[in-house]
Amino acid sequence: MKLLFVGDVVGSPGRDMIKEYLPKLKKKFRPSLTIVNGENAAHGKGLTQKIYHELIQAGAQVITMGNHTWDKREIFEFIEEVPHLIRPANFPEGTPGEGITYIKADGKEVAVINLQGRTFLAPIDCPFKKADELIEEARKRTPIIFVDFHAEATSEKQAMGWYLDGKASAVVGTHTHVQTADERILDHGTAFITDVGMTGPYDGILGVEREAVIKRFLTNLPVRFEVTEGKAQLSAIVVDINDKTGKASKIERILINDDHMFFE
Ligand SMILES: [Fe+2]
Repeated sequence: MKLLFVGDVVGSPGRDMIKEYLPKLKKKFRPSLTIVNGENAAHGKGLTQKIYHELIQAGAQVITMGNHTWDKREIFEFIEEVPHLIRPANFPEGTPGEGITYIKADGKEVAVINLQGRTFLAPIDCPFKKADELIEEARKRTPIIFVDFHAEATSEKQAMGWYLDGKASAVVGTHTHVQTADERILDHGTAFITDVGMTGPYDGILGVEREAVIKRFLTNLPVRFEVTEGKAQLSAIVVDINDKTGKASKIERILINDDHMFFE
């Protein structure tokens, strides 16, 4: 089966790209399941219920989150109510929501796991040990296991890829908003990419208005970060997985922007 994963959707430019290109990507790749990272979907930080439904309506079937999970307060009211919305599994015990979800795709069950790194991010529970725990649980139900590892450091993401090689079908990095060109199938059949990249403004700095970010670097003064309008991009990957063994055979990187045209 094929899984389509779209990297961090940032604000309305990201949502507009999802609405425009998700149908085209689905037509081209015919994925059995579409997963979207939505942690920046509401104005760059967090997710509202309205936007959750907007992403589902546009074709997302599972939504993963990250370090901005709690930025829109209303998520506390719906994270446990709506289906297939997950936050990093290694958030401290007692945190609302789940870090794993199971969903049927082409008659097979797929486990989707969301984890968050600890290097240059909050010192939460160990993502590696949490991965072990959840994969052991998931393997009782299905060999098809997809991991969105939301982390800052390339080293931590590569470490997770190799750590889970042969245990997960795919380990993909999110959070840095810059797509890496290192997609590959690891030795024991795990599809890996250090960062899928983001879906949102193309001319900002990681999706934020350039002037504010540059001012921050020049002066270290507090500035307000706003999502940039204008040109947009979409970053994604498609993974081919053997649904009997759970092993990946192919990972394809997708980047759509003014410098990388989309061919139907
Ligand atoms: Fe993030």
